[in-house]
Amino acid sequence: MADKATLTIGDQSFDLPILKGTTGPDVMDVRKFYADSDLFTFDPGFTSTASCESKITFIDGDAGILLHRGYPIDQLVEKSSFLEVCYLLLHGELPNAAEFETFDHNITYHTMLHAQFDRFFEGFRRDAHPMAIMTGAVGALSAFYADSINVDDPREREISAHRLIAKMPTIAARAFKYHMGQPFVSPRNNLSYSENFLRMCFAVPAEDWVPNPILTRAMDRIFILHADHEQNASTSTVRLAGSSGAHPFACIAAGIACLWGPSHGGANQEALEMLEEIGTVDKIPEFIEGVKARKYKLMGFGHRVYKNFDPRATAMQKTCHEVLGELGINDPLLEVAMELEKIALSDPYFIERKLYPNIDFYSGITLRAMGFPSKMFTVLFALARTVGWISQWKEMFEDPARKIGRPRQLYTGATQRDYAPIDKR
Ligand code: CMC
Repeated sequence: MADKATLTIGDQSFDLPILKGTTGPDVMDVRKFYADSDLFTFDPGFTSTASCESKITFIDGDAGILLHRGYPIDQLVEKSSFLEVCYLLLHGELPNAAEFETFDHNITYHTMLHAQFDRFFEGFRRDAHPMAIMTGAVGALSAFYADSINVDDPREREISAHRLIAKMPTIAARAFKYHMGQPFVSPRNNLSYSENFLRMCFAVPAEDWVPNPILTRAMDRIFILHADHEQNASTSTVRLAGSSGAHPFACIAAGIACLWGPSHGGANQEALEMLEEIGTVDKIPEFIEGVKARKYKLMGFGHRVYKNFDPRATAMQKTCHEVLGELGINDPLLEVAMELEKIALSDPYFIERKLYPNIDFYSGITLRAMGFPSKMFTVLFALARTVGWISQWKEMFEDPARKIGRPRQLYTGATQRDYAPIDKR
C-alpha cells in the first residue's frame, strides 16, 4: 500500500501519512489534519478510528484471531496459567522460571487488604450489586495505598500494578461474601491465584474447604479468556482517564464502571438471565421473533470486532462442558443455550448481521455451575480484566508521545444568543 493518502477538498489537497503496524490494517494519520485543514474527522463510537499505538493485544475479527503479545488465545488457555499471562501482558514476554518466581512472590505478597478496608464494605447495603461495591472499593484503594500513587515514579507504578492484580481477588471475594452474608475469608499465600480466589469465595468457618483441581483450572481459564481485549470501551476509558495523569486505582475504578454496562461486561449477567427467562427449548422461536422485532437483543451474541466467531467463546464453551461434566450437573439452561445458538446460527437475520456467540454466552452457565450468583459474573470479568487495563495504562503512560485525550465534536446546538430575564422568556 502507498505510504500516504491524498484527500482533496475543493481546490485544496491534503497528504495524510499511512502508518503500518506489524499486522492488521494500516492507519491513516490524521493528527495534523485539523491544523492544516480546519476540519475535524467525525467517528462516534470509534468504528474507524485507532485511538492509540499498542503492542499488547491483536484481534483479527474476520478471521476470529486473538493474540496476546503474539501468542494465540487458545494456546494460552491450554498451556499457560493466568499469572503467567499477567506477566506476559505487563512485560511483553513470557517469563523464565526465575522471573516467574519473583512475579508470583510479588503478587502473593500483596494479596491482603488493610484491616481498615474490611470495615469499608460494611458501609454498603447488603443487597448492593457487587459491581457497585467493586467500583467504590477499587476507587478507595488510593486512600489506603497512597504510597504508590505517584505515577511519575516507575517503582510506584509497578507496585500499584502488583497491588491491583493481587488485591482484586480479595476485594471481589469480599464483595461476594458480603452479598451472601457470610464472614470474610483471608487469602492463603500457599495457594495458586485461582485456587486462593475460589477458597476466599466458597470456604466457610463451619467446614473444611476441599479444592477441586478441575474447577480451579476452569477458573484460571476463565480469567485468561477475560485478561485483555485491545481497545474496548472499558480499556479506552482506563486510557482516557490515565491520560490526564490520574493514578491507576482511579483509572481502574473508571474501567470497572464502564465494564458494568450491559453492552460490555454486564452482558454475562444479562445473558444468563435471558436464558433463565426463556427457560425451555420450546420458548426459543417466540423469543427469536422478539429479537427480530427489535424488542430486545440476544445477549451474549454479536461483537463490534468479531464478525466470524469469537475465539474466546469456543474455549468458553469447552470449559462449560468440562465444568458441568465434572460436577455432574445436567443444567436445562445448557440445552436452551445450545439450541438457541443452533437456531441463531442458521437464521438469515443473524447470518446477515454476522452475529455469533461471544464469550458471555457460555460463561454464565459455567459460573453458575461453579456456585456464583449471576450478579457476580461481571465482577469476575473485572477481576480478570484488571491486568489488561493496567498493562494498557502502563503502555499509555510510558509512551513518550502521550497526550491528554481530548476528542472534539460536531456542534449542532444553538449559536450565540443573548440571555433574557425570566419574565421575558
Ligand atoms: N441481538 C440482536 N441483534 C443484534 C445484536 C444482538 N445481540 N447485536 C447486534 N445486533 C444487530 C443490531 O440491531 C444491528 O442491526 P441493524 O443493522 O438491522 O440495525 C446489527 O446487528 C449491527 O449491530 P451494531 O449495534 O451496529 O453492532 P455494534 O458493533 O455497535 O455492537 C455489541 C456490538 C456487542 C454492543 C452488540 O452486538 C450487542 O449489544 N450485543 C449484546 C450484548 C453483548 O453480548 N455484549 C458482550 C460483548 S463481548 C464481551 C465484552 O467485550 O464486553
